[in-house]
Amino acid sequence: MVGIFITFEGGDGSGKSTQAGLLEQWLTDAGHTVVRTREPGGTAVGDELREIVLHSRGHIDPRAEALIFAASRAQHVAEKVRPALQRGEIVIMDRYLDSSVAYQGFARGLGADDVRSISLWATEDLLPDLTVLLDVDEDTGRDRLHDARTRYDRLEAEERDFHARVRAAYLEIAATEPSRFLVLDASLPVDDLAAAVRTRAAALFA
Ligand code: TYD
Repeated sequence: MVGIFITFEGGDGSGKSTQAGLLEQWLTDAGHTVVRTREPGGTAVGDELREIVLHSRGHIDPRAEALIFAASRAQHVAEKVRPALQRGEIVIMDRYLDSSVAYQGFARGLGADDVRSISLWATEDLLPDLTVLLDVDEDTGRDRLHDARTRYDRLEAEERDFHARVRAAYLEIAATEPSRFLVLDASLPVDDLAAAVRTRAAALFA
């Protein structure tokens, strides 16, 4: 595979989308072909699954929830991500398998190893070259979301403890794979974060 695969992770309200957008702009300006996408979603099937998993009114069993995220991911990788990487493009993604490990594996209590295995099976073992973790404490994330939202999705609506578990999970995941992760304090100014992301991304091209 000749392309480069970069993912952004973090709790709700961590500023992932802003940073993904700034990196996309910087790489595009430098002449690279960039595919920017997100999970859940990214394909027509994925968008339908996104609607179910985030906005379905009825109860979704945690295992069913984990499999819906994995199904969206399988479709996304097969239809969009792997072909782009094979063309030598850069893929920037808002959330990927570490979201499942943090939210479903740790915060929902399904088990990190099982949830990771399901995603690796779904994607035929596609791991990012770089994952930027924007570490945000649950209260700051909440406040930012509150300013930006009129309604919360099913995961965002979970209680404070759930989001505290998500944060701790992310830090634990990052610690087990330090060479893949860049961990940044999401409370830093946007420009400082963007500069740190660019420095690390540039190293991938060296
Ligand atoms: P997202 O659209 O990234 O929301 P936001 O941009 O507001 O952070 O993700 C929606 C929710 O889905 C988010 O609360 C995290 C959750 N999620 C999981 O629980 N597991 C997953 O595998 C993914 C991709 C997302």
